[in-house]
Amino acid sequence: MRATFIGLAGSLVPLALTQRLDKPPLETGLDYLQKGLLEYLGPVKSSYKKWTPGWIPSDCKTMTVNANLSVAHVETFSVQYEDVGTSVNVAFSEISNQCPNDPWLLCRHIDSPDPLENMIDLFGRVPVRARQWVRHIVNLPDPTNFTSAYNWAGNIAMFESINRDLTLFIHETGHSLDLLGAYPDNPLSTSRHWHAQYAKDSHVPDPYSQSNIYEDLAQNTVVAAYDLNVPGGIGVVEPKWRDVLHQFDTIEVEQRKAGGFAGERGSVHEAFEQ
Ligand SMILES: *[C@@H]1O[C@H](CO)[C@@H](O)[C@H](O)[C@H]1NC(C)=O
Ligand SMILES: *[C@@H]1O[C@H](CO)[C@@H](O)[C@H](O)[C@H]1NC(C)=O
Repeated sequence: MRATFIGLAGSLVPLALTQRLDKPPLETGLDYLQKGLLEYLGPVKSSYKKWTPGWIPSDCKTMTVNANLSVAHVETFSVQYEDVGTSVNVAFSEISNQCPNDPWLLCRHIDSPDPLENMIDLFGRVPVRARQWVRHIVNLPDPTNFTSAYNWAGNIAMFESINRDLTLFIHETGHSLDLLGAYPDNPLSTSRHWHAQYAKDSHVPDPYSQSNIYEDLAQNTVVAAYDLNVPGGIGVVEPKWRDVLHQFDTIEVEQRKAGGFAGERGSVHEAFEQ
């Protein structure tokens, strides 16, 4: 089942910025980007260890309790990706003062339908320098089997089976990049620059992007990830890419200024610059 709620945890967001956007959607969804993203953002080798039962990071605890689930049913895993090297899990280390090479912590409810390995694989495909801005991953079941996700304080909650939906993981990572300070314009979504660039486009990528400026930016992070990582860029699958150019291009420019978050290929976007 497709995720229909993939947003931010509500209370963070000032009212004016949660207004719906009135630009029309370019496509009915971003599923058409899935195949290329999975192909060119390949799996990353990893290993994991289960924490001693009874230990859980406090953010995982909060998110579990907020979902009315029992903390006693959540297992915590530390996940080490081999591409991390000397780079830093920024969000994690800033907040908890851990060492630079610390693994990610993944909290998983024992009734979550998605196997642990699926979640580790999918998150590993998010380019490492973007992944660094994500704190913890929390995978929980939903009583009505409804697939959804949200980002709270840099943590990503995934409900039910995410089922190899890499666009969803990149979308949620996009919220972390935006709101935790990855971009020179920080937060990008509330910056004058973003709003000026947004004003130049005739469309937003899809109906979910219309929810508000935060969700639009997160969906455009998916478009930018495709454009940067899949050979030929977004133009290969999206003939109307010019209608959202200023949005996804702004994300690419900000990522470049911040040192580049794309995959190994780096930017293939030069042809689109104006
Ligand atoms: C959790 O339970 C409370 C009280 O019954 C309810 O108001 C709230 O909506 C529930 N939250 C979720 C995410 O189910
Ligand atoms: C949710 O999925 C589980 C496992 O497939 C199934 O047993 C259960 O009946 C489903 N619940 C609902 C409310 O559809």
